[in-house]
Amino acid sequence: MEPDREGSMRAVVCTRYGPPEVLQLRDLPKPVPRHNEVCIKIFATAVTASDCIVRAFIVPPRLKLLMGVVLGFRKPRNPILGLVLAGEIESVGEDVRQFKAGSQVYAFTAFRFGAYAEYKCLPEKAIVALKPSNVTYGEAASLPYGGLLALYFLKKANIQSGHRVLVYGASGAIGTSAVQLAKYFGADVTGVCSAANLELVKSLGADTVIDYTKEDFTQNGVRYDLIFNAVGKRKATLQTEGSLTPDGRHITVDDSTPRLRAADLPFLTELVETGTLKPVIDRSYPLEQIVEAHRYVDQGHKKGNVVIAVAA
Ligand SMILES: NC(=O)c1ccc[n+]([C@@H]2O[C@H](COP(=O)([O-])OP(=O)(O)OC[C@H]3O[C@@H](n4cnc5c(N)ncnc54)[C@H](OP(=O)(O)O)[C@@H]3O)[C@@H](O)[C@H]2O)c1
Repeated sequence: MEPDREGSMRAVVCTRYGPPEVLQLRDLPKPVPRHNEVCIKIFATAVTASDCIVRAFIVPPRLKLLMGVVLGFRKPRNPILGLVLAGEIESVGEDVRQFKAGSQVYAFTAFRFGAYAEYKCLPEKAIVALKPSNVTYGEAASLPYGGLLALYFLKKANIQSGHRVLVYGASGAIGTSAVQLAKYFGADVTGVCSAANLELVKSLGADTVIDYTKEDFTQNGVRYDLIFNAVGKRKATLQTEGSLTPDGRHITVDDSTPRLRAADLPFLTELVETGTLKPVIDRSYPLEQIVEAHRYVDQGHKKGNVVIAVAA
């Protein structure tokens, strides 16, 4: 017989900072929406590079104190990690106007975390939007992290039609979105990745692809209007002086704390529904295998996104 789980939900708890094994599946009380919140029954989430960074508390020494205050010192203050979700609104608070029970949505929870669970309550003004109608919940959950971050950085760099843009790390979650969004903005796009991912990056619309294990783009004589390092400084420090046009810019995903906007998620929905932005999924795991999913993402070479199926 099925256990009576009314009022409770399954969730993955980060018991302390450390390796993937610190994640444990537990039964916790199901959240109840406040007056301005929606309660979402989650069907899918994704394991992002940021989830792994938080889980392991990978923070430069100079930021340890600050991040301890923000996230918690020995373990995350909000023990349920997870930044992205897709699901169906189960109930809404009395002041909610934008959504109703039954709406299919996807979301980026930001510092609220909490997507590794069967339910999450979010303010209706959080980064929540109607899910693109032409994708599955798993695909929808794979979109907000890479999509919103790539959009933020490309706009910050003032990308323009006709720009020659190089995306370094073009096969990751942020990189696969950046390639597609840069094409949408009318750029000529070069994607840099390892040999195994060249075809994928080409299929996303890159005009040129470079295998970083064989060719150093800084020696090819080409000058770019924008070089976007989507790998990050921990793994790739690029010497770009000789590879930029006079007004060219070099930006890195960890140059600043991105300010993601709720209004950009419906914009992504539109791009997905018109076929301009396609979700890229490497693997899917059930919630019970979240430790294995973190082990895989920890390696730093996923292709696009790793999805977690939450619903039973
Ligand atoms: N500023 C912020 O607040 C913020 C927010 C989110 C993320 N980030 C940063 O963004 C990074 C990328 O996120 P993501 O989700 O896109 O990661 P991801 O999906 O794991 O992708 C990583 C990418 O890096 C490439 N790569 C790995 N090692 C490399 C190396 N040594 N040289 C060149 N390329 C390498 C991989 O390509 P191959 O497999 O082909 O090697 C892949 O394309 C994160 O690690 C994080 O540091 C920053």
